[in-house]
Amino acid sequence: MTAETPDALGLVALRDPRSLAAEAYRTLRTNIQFSSLDKPLHTLLVTSTSADEGKSTTLANLAVTMAQAEQRVILVDCDLRRPSLHTFFNLQNDVGLTSMILAQDEMPIPLQSTSIPDLKLLASGPLPPRPADILGSRRMETVIERLRNEADVVLFDTPPVIAVTDAAVLATRVDGVLLVLQANKTSRERGRRAREILDKVKANIVGAVLNNAEIEQGYDYYA
Ligand SMILES: Nc1ncnc2c1ncn2[C@@H]1O[C@H](COP(=O)(O)OP(=O)(O)O)[C@@H](O)[C@H]1O
Ligand SMILES: [Mg+2]
Repeated sequence: MTAETPDALGLVALRDPRSLAAEAYRTLRTNIQFSSLDKPLHTLLVTSTSADEGKSTTLANLAVTMAQAEQRVILVDCDLRRPSLHTFFNLQNDVGLTSMILAQDEMPIPLQSTSIPDLKLLASGPLPPRPADILGSRRMETVIERLRNEADVVLFDTPPVIAVTDAAVLATRVDGVLLVLQANKTSRERGRRAREILDKVKANIVGAVLNNAEIEQGYDYYA
């Protein structure tokens, strides 16, 4: 399912800033800021135990609320298996992260503007055969460094951490990791497993988001 489907939550933080769902994303922003008072988080990655738990939706809305608070934000689509961040902003993903990694010479960062002035997107670019190799490459380190210099916060979307190594590889290179869990769907066992994988690579898990599509849709109803 993509954000373009009729029942999709999409960018609720932009569309309906007074909704309870938008309020929840602002609370998440505040909690993240407070979780890192001593060591500011410039780079943050989101992952989950499996597909469709709301990673991309959470990250896109968090990015909107951060940009609304006048932070310069870059969203990076590192889900090189099912990229979707571009769909939230009606943008393309044919040029992006992988274009930079594959370029012979250093190229300008192919950032795309969104309707929010302080929010830019680095889309996936063409999908590679082995995403983990891209994310673990030396060049990726340089890309992260360049992105850091362009923004206050850089947010990375990734595939589920249990299925493939991509998120764990990238987790070692960012300041913090946010785990999205579906309140009624993610089993304790899978939640624990995701933590184990992230702990093993010494990722800095800054928190977990309990996402529940049904409750959130209820929010819209009560708003
Ligand atoms: N809090 C929520 N409330 C309602 N629907 C949601 C919520 N979070 C995600 N969704 C919906 O669930 C589907 C999967 O979300 P997505 O963010 O694409 O998941 P993932 O990136 O983990 O695969 C989308 O249709 C999205 O609109
Ligand atoms: Mg996604």
